[in-house]
Order: sequence, then C-alpha cells, then structure tokens
Amino acid sequence: RIFDDSEKASKAVAHEIAALIRQKNKEGKPTILGLATGSSPKKVYQELIRMHKEEGLSFKNVITFNLDEYHPMEPDSIQSYVRFMREQLFDHIDIPVTNYHIPDGTLTIEKIPEFCRDYEAKIEKLGGFDFYLLGIGRNGHIGFNEPGSVINSKTRLMTLDITTKIDAAIDFGGLEKVPKRAITLGIDKIMQAKRIVLLAWGEHKAQSVAKAVEGPITSDIPATYLQQHPNTLFILDETAASLL
Ligand code: GLP
Repeated sequence: RIFDDSEKASKAVAHEIAALIRQKNKEGKPTILGLATGSSPKKVYQELIRMHKEEGLSFKNVITFNLDEYHPMEPDSIQSYVRFMREQLFDHIDIPVTNYHIPDGTLTIEKIPEFCRDYEAKIEKLGGFDFYLLGIGRNGHIGFNEPGSVINSKTRLMTLDITTKIDAAIDFGGLEKVPKRAITLGIDKIMQAKRIVLLAWGEHKAQSVAKAVEGPITSDIPATYLQQHPNTLFILDETAASLL
C-alpha cells in the first residue's frame, strides 16, 4: 500500500495496531506484538502514544518482543535499542515493565544461546505474535537477519553485514565503533506471526523494497521470504515504492 507520505502511512498502521489491542482487550486476551527500532516505526509509536494519552488506549495487556539489539551493548547507551524503545514508546504508555522484552546486549557470548532459546520459548508459550511491525535494511535484512539467513533461522547472535555497519556508523561516530555483532530474532518466529506489516520510507529503500516484493525468493535478500507469508502488507511512501 502506497501513501503520499510516511506520516499518513504511520497513522494508518498505528490505527490497525490500536484496533487489534482494543479487540483483544474486549476478549480479555493479551495482544502479542513484535516491534522494531530504527527511524521507520518512530511515527507509529508517536501516534500510539497520542492514542494512549488522548483516547485512553491501554497497553496494560500488551506483551511485546523486540527484534534485535547490538552486542555488546549496555541498555542505557545512546545506541541501545532498550533505550530507544523506552524513549520512543514504553516510558510514555502504561505497559508494565515486565511485559516488554528486548534482546539483552549485556550477556557474555556463552550465555547467548540459552537466552535466545528462552526468548523463543516465551513467544511460543504465548501462542506467537498477533502482529509484527518490521522495517527493512538497505541490504534487504529484517531485524538483523542479514543476507545469507535461511527462512527457518532461529534467534541468534549474528555478524553484521557491511551495509548495516555503514548505515549504523553515524549513530556510533564511525564505522570502526559499530559493534561487529547483534542478537536478532530469527526469521522463523517472524514468519509465524499472524500478521506482518513492513514499513519503508525514502528513496534509499526503493531498491531493497523492489527486490523484496518482486524479486526471486532468496537468502541474499531475507525480506523476500515475506512473499511466502499469507498476511503481510508493505506500507510505503511514494519514494520507497518508486522502483516497483
Ligand atoms: C536496523 C534494525 C532493523 C531496522 C533497520 C532499518 O538495522 N536492526 O530492525 O529495520 O535498521 O532502519 P531504519 O528504519 O532506520 O531505516
């Protein structure tokens, strides 16, 4: 779906999420959401905060799992996705602290496999995601599932691709300061979500969007796997859609 601009598009996405939360609240069931960081979802989060403050949208019964976190990373670092999520959303809504989950960038390498298994087990116990909000990298990654990731990949420590590091360099003050690795939710769990919405804005995303939507399904562009998902919507602005 192509919108004139990212603002209108983000509102439409936030309204879909709000409708899902309200429906689940009515049924007395939790809403299991998958969330992303980066610039793409920021306006969706702003609209959700507005709906919480002005319309009483409650997140008390919402449980979230984020896609990824750099490793190593302290949660209060400026580049931390924990900090990002708190600043952009969680600190402004009524979600209980125990209800949101973000991969832990402080773990030692040896502890990561167990953490990843637990992360997936928690998601499975809740019945999987009702809704997953995704962004896309310029190299076609989803989360930090870099090119080469297979469709049934599990949650794991991933070595970052050079394109990802170049794009992150500005946040870290130089390419050499970008962490070499990150913990990412695997493609397997993302693909099990009942509904997936991927956001992309700007000309710099046009090529990966075109490949993801129209190209052959390949591990070189992990977002192409979404072609096999029965309920995925790409929400684009005009420029991100310009090569379709
Ligand atoms: C990072 C994140 C992804 C995100 C992507 C796009 O690599 N790990 O989850 O989708 O960037 O970021 P942006 O939305 O800032 O373009």
